[in-house]
Amino acid sequence: MLFLGFLVGFLVAPSVFGLAPSSLIVQNKGGGHGEIGYHTAIALSNIGHKVTLLQDSSCDNTKEPFASYPSLPSSVTVVPCSMSTLPSSVTSSTYHTIIDNYSKSPDSPFSQALCDLGKTCSKYLYISSAGIYDPPPTHGTDDGGPLLESFPVKETKGQAQFEDLLSSSSVPLFAFRPQYIYGPKANKFSYLDWYFSRITSSKPLPIPGTGKQMVSLTNAVDVADLLKSCTESENAIPGVYNCGSGKVYSYNEVASMCGKVANMDAHIVNYNADVKGKGEFPFRPNNFHVVPTKAKETWGWEGGNMDLEGDLKWYYDDFLKRGGGGGGFEKDEEILAVEA
Ligand SMILES: *[C@@H]1O[C@H](CO)[C@@H](O)[C@H](O)[C@H]1NC(C)=O
Repeated sequence: MLFLGFLVGFLVAPSVFGLAPSSLIVQNKGGGHGEIGYHTAIALSNIGHKVTLLQDSSCDNTKEPFASYPSLPSSVTVVPCSMSTLPSSVTSSTYHTIIDNYSKSPDSPFSQALCDLGKTCSKYLYISSAGIYDPPPTHGTDDGGPLLESFPVKETKGQAQFEDLLSSSSVPLFAFRPQYIYGPKANKFSYLDWYFSRITSSKPLPIPGTGKQMVSLTNAVDVADLLKSCTESENAIPGVYNCGSGKVYSYNEVASMCGKVANMDAHIVNYNADVKGKGEFPFRPNNFHVVPTKAKETWGWEGGNMDLEGDLKWYYDDFLKRGGGGGGFEKDEEILAVEA
């Protein structure tokens, strides 16, 4: 009994003595993918981290995910910040993990301060974007396969330059490069809304090329799960990691899936985008997608738990609640007129 008590005491001791690992999430004001910080805060708190969520205070608190911050677990402290200097409560702390979805350039003094703080952490997870890749031209064909972490990046992009600053400063950098993100508490809907607004308006869907190009559409909850798995794994080694659930679909498949969920016809028109461009289509005309093979192989991430097919059901309900998306099909009509 005494021994058991000792054992239990030993097991709970780290948290009792305030030794729970702590992590810092630095979150931009949203507009794009502000929900990454929210979901990551929950995921890290689920593995016993004390989380500080440093939030750009110029965000709109009436919008998601910020409106839901009060419902975050009690182990998450949201610190609003003007993003000019790091608060002293942050600079005086040592974090196991820093998750930066704020920095956009090595020229920002605030990001330089984050880089300095990063020298003392175990893992610096920088969430940039697959958009910085500059793949070889041969890669753009339908069967070009996923973007590889070894591909060159556009060195003119601030995010690429900030990755360089982190790695040259001996920060333990894990550079995550996601692609298109959707999910609960999101505030960017342009990807899937493009499909649903045409389907529900009984309009054709002008999809550039063959429509066989693949896309990674990832639930932010899965992004958070990947970041969590990196945080807790002892096998994770610094480097560049593509970020996505691993399930990819062709542009045309996404259309059919949306049509099925809306119980309406998805009238796909694949056309030659060399003539009229991609119009309002939300993805690139050429093959450009990521899969998380490297993260899976390096530390055994099991891939996400969400799947687009299931998620489209609530997404569609939400789309209708937001008032659906009608109108704005002029560019489509121009494209379709050329095709006809
Ligand atoms: C945060 O991550 C998203 C998803 O990749 C990306 O689009 C955005 O540019 C990142 N934000 C910043 C400020 O780096």
